[in-house]
Amino acid sequence: MSRPQAKDRRILYGRRRGKPLRKGQQRLIEHDLPRLQITIEEEEIDLPSLFGGEARAYWLEIGFGGGEHLAWQANANPDVGIIGCEPFVNGVAMLLAKLEENGAQNVRLHTDAAERLIERIPSESIDRAFILFPDPWPKSSHHKRRFVSGENINALARIMKSGGELRIATDHTDYGAWILWHMLRSDHFLWQAESPDDWRSRPADWPPTRYEMKAVGKGLRPVYYRFLRKNRA
Ligand SMILES: C[S@@+](CC[C@H](N)C(=O)[O-])C[C@H]1O[C@@H](n2cnc3c(N)ncnc32)[C@H](O)[C@@H]1O
Repeated sequence: MSRPQAKDRRILYGRRRGKPLRKGQQRLIEHDLPRLQITIEEEEIDLPSLFGGEARAYWLEIGFGGGEHLAWQANANPDVGIIGCEPFVNGVAMLLAKLEENGAQNVRLHTDAAERLIERIPSESIDRAFILFPDPWPKSSHHKRRFVSGENINALARIMKSGGELRIATDHTDYGAWILWHMLRSDHFLWQAESPDDWRSRPADWPPTRYEMKAVGKGLRPVYYRFLRKNRA
């Protein structure tokens, strides 16, 4: 029997909506989102067409929250096509406000579970992927909800170019260990760290997120992992 596709099983556990959107946020969702939103068809996504021409590289951010990191990267790297995935509509509205402010044109959005999008991304097409502060789901009965899993690591390994970089951060000690355990047993990625500073501090081209700032404010010490997609045999 073939593996059920993401569309056939439950994969999203978090909220899709929070507080009612303000008028300005509603306007962004109605006017700006349709222009940037990716339509998922049965076929593979054609990345150059999606971005209106060949980009220098293609990046993917999974669960961008309020979009602080994504908006910063889009503005700093205008020649990169960046896809953001976020099912929480209030976060999408926050990102749209940031893009309106900084004028970045190189972002496209998927407002549903990343798993559904990854299935439609061509193999060996993504140069860099970010999973920043994914929901930790601390109860052991909820661990199966965690985004970092053998299945999702394999799915990312398929779409990432050899030598591409996967960045994952968390403030949750148990999830930090879980992420390392899953990544180190993967045949497809190599951990970049040589000394503790390599995962305890954020590189200069990695701006902080809202969730991260809250965690640091509570005295937590996040970890910042960087893995390289191994060369294919
Ligand atoms: C703890 S928040 C972190 C948000 C942001 N990265 C930050 O650091 O501020 C995790 C985010 O992942 C999103 N998320 C959860 N499951 C997801 C999935 N399957 N695909 C894409 N995003 C998802 C949630 O809606 C939420 O916004």
